[in-house]
Order: sequence, then C-alpha cells, then structure tokens
Amino acid sequence: MPQIRVDVRSAGGDYPILIGGGVADRAAQQLDEWRVGPRRFVVSNPVVWRIHGERMAAALPGADVILIPDGERHKHLASVARIYDALVRAGADRGSVIVAVGGGVIGDMAGFAAATFLRGIGLVQVPTTLLAQVDASVGGKVGVNLPAGKNLVGAFYPPRLVLTDPVFLQTLPRREYRAGLYEVIKYGVACSADLFARLDREAERLTDPASAVIESLVADCCRIKAAIVSADEREAGGRRVLNFGHTAGHAIEALTGYRRFRHGEAVAWGMLVASEVAGSRGLISDDESRALKALVMRLGPLPLVADLPADRVLDLMKRDKKVVDGSLHFVLPAAIGTSRVVDDVTDVELRAALVSVGFGQN
Ligand SMILES: NC(=O)c1ccc[n+]([C@@H]2O[C@H](COP(=O)([O-])OP(=O)(O)OC[C@H]3O[C@@H](n4cnc5c(N)ncnc54)[C@H](O)[C@@H]3O)[C@@H](O)[C@H]2O)c1
Ligand SMILES: [Zn+2]
Repeated sequence: MPQIRVDVRSAGGDYPILIGGGVADRAAQQLDEWRVGPRRFVVSNPVVWRIHGERMAAALPGADVILIPDGERHKHLASVARIYDALVRAGADRGSVIVAVGGGVIGDMAGFAAATFLRGIGLVQVPTTLLAQVDASVGGKVGVNLPAGKNLVGAFYPPRLVLTDPVFLQTLPRREYRAGLYEVIKYGVACSADLFARLDREAERLTDPASAVIESLVADCCRIKAAIVSADEREAGGRRVLNFGHTAGHAIEALTGYRRFRHGEAVAWGMLVASEVAGSRGLISDDESRALKALVMRLGPLPLVADLPADRVLDLMKRDKKVVDGSLHFVLPAAIGTSRVVDDVTDVELRAALVSVGFGQN
C-alpha cells in the first residue's frame, strides 16, 4: 500500500512520519524495519483500546499493554508513575520502546514517560485523533499538567517513528474531528496560502473523516509542521507562528474551566480575534479576514462566547505563559499564508477585537 513519508530533523535524532491507510496495521514490520526496540509496550486508554485494541494487538504481537484512564484530567504525574510501575514490573530495559496509541493526551503522557524512564527509552507515536496526527505527534514536545497549569512539566523528546493512519479518524466523535480541523485551518492561515485555498475548495469533503482527501491533507499539515520544527525545534523563533490563535484560545479555555470548548474550538475563536487585530492594523485585507471567518463557520457551529466578558479573556491572555519579559507575543496573520509575531498589541486593540467577534462588553 502506498504511504507518504515526511522526515523531521531533531537534535535528538531525525525521524520519519509514515502516513497512510493501514500503516498502523503494519506496526511490527515498521518497527522492525526502523530497528525500534525488541520489547514493546503499548500505552493507550480504555476508550481507544475498546475500539482499536484488537487491531493494534494483532499489529504488535507480544507487546505489553498499559491502559491509563481517558481524559485530559488524567494527564498528570500520577499517570506517568503508573506507566513507570508497569514498565518496572515487566522488566523493561534500555532497549524497550513505548508505543503511544491515542490522542494528544496519551502521546504527551506516554512520551514523557519514555523521555524519563531510565533517562530515556524508545518512543513511537501512533496518533489516533486528527489533532494528534497534524500537531501533537510532530515536533517532540511531551509532558503533563500540574494542578497549577497545563503542560508545565515536560521535555523535548523526539520519537523514533510516527505511524499516522487516517483510518483511526473514522471512529472519532464528530466534534473531536471538527476541533482538529480548526488546527488544520491554522496551518493554512499562518503558513500556507496553498493549503488555505485547498481547504476553501474542499471544505465540505473535509468534514467527512472517511473522505479520500484526508490522507493528503494530514500529510500537508505534517510537512508544514515538520519544516517549522526542523528549523526551530525548541521554539526560539519560527515555531512560534504555530501559536496562531492560541493566545486568546488558551484564555478562553481557561476562563471556561476547560469544559465548554474543545481545544481546537477555542483556537478557532482565537484565530478570529487575531485576524480582527490584523485587520484593524491593515495587515490583512477585509476579504481575507472574511474568507477566514467563512471557512471557520463552514465547518459547523462553535460554542458561543457572548456571555464571556472581553476583559476577563484579556486578563487571562496577559497571564499566558507566552508572556516573555513582560510583553505578550502575539501571532498575527499578515495576508493568508504568512504570519508575523509581534509584541506590541495593546489592551485596547485586543479588547476591541474580542468585542467585535462577539465576546461580552463587560
Ligand atoms: N505535544 C504537542 O506538541 C501538542 C500539540 C497540541 C496538543 N497537545 C496536547 O494534546 C492534547 C489534546 O489531544 P486530543 O485533542 O487528541 O485529545 P485526547 O487525547 O483527549 O482525545 C480526545 C478524545 O478522543 C478519544 N479518541 C482518541 N482517538 C480516538 C479514535 N480513533 N476513535 C474514537 N475516540 C478516540 C480519546 O480517548 C479522548 O476521549 C492536549 O493535552 C494538548 O496539550 C500536544
Ligand atoms: Zn493547538
């Protein structure tokens, strides 16, 4: 079966992303071919394993399976400790490898366990959500949450191999799938006019996870992210553009206790806010701003924001961890497909943009 290969450069070792329908079914052969660990430990969760466990167990015969409860609230150090315990009990050693089968939560957490167990064992990502396929599995960021905030403990730890199989997406809840599509739009607006044009052309087909176009769409996103993280693994510069929509997005998620919005949905609102700021500065034309908004809206309804006061969102944005040296780094689209990181966006501009896209006046 044809498969697409995207290579990622990393100080810790380059690695390929193999993309294609059925790639996960050939996991054992792929790991053998890439000489990844003779002893294999799958880390997944009961939701993913109920649906895909039989298939993945057949794809990785002899692997131990470690299941961690599902959900972002389990992405913490206690779950990582459970993974260590299971590894120790099974006698894992330096030659062992963790195969993370799940969404971004499993990938981040299992990845952090792999980065730290015995000071680092092999890691293979098998991302099963759209968000994990186009974003979380690429670039080597792994980590967990602390009670004080999201992703506060972590590492840059490249996987040895990423197996990206679009077949997983067919069992994803529709809302999870749509939430991932907003991150896809992010790549288009911030990094690639071609991708944006393609999304605009194919929006209706893209909302069907079984569509034949999904595989190449995922590949397009992986290529974009791979190029960016290969040039700036540790987010000293270029990688920051991937935070487009995320400054306001994170604030919106935090303000609603991470309950009302899926991450991608909050990012969608954040992109609208950023494009409003860019529009008022004349960085992006009214037509482009309208095109972005129209594409976001075509994917389906977003949770509403009218009851969320603009001032509260603004306060939380200023507390975001991307505030460096007292200035807020903010990614603005500068024409569709290019973006600019600025640190001089004022409260007045942000407030006006928030209100203009629909947040509460007070
Ligand atoms: N490391 C990075 O660079 C990076 C980038 C972006 C996001 N993240 C992290 O990713 C996490 C979010 O990831 P997510 O959106 O994938 O959420 P998730 O991992 O919670 O998955 C969403 C839900 O879908 C279920 N699921 C997964 N695959 C499925 C499938 N094929 N069929 C049916 N159900 C399935 C999961 O069990 C879960 O209930 C966050 O913790 C975020 O911090 C990391
Ligand atoms: Zn994101």
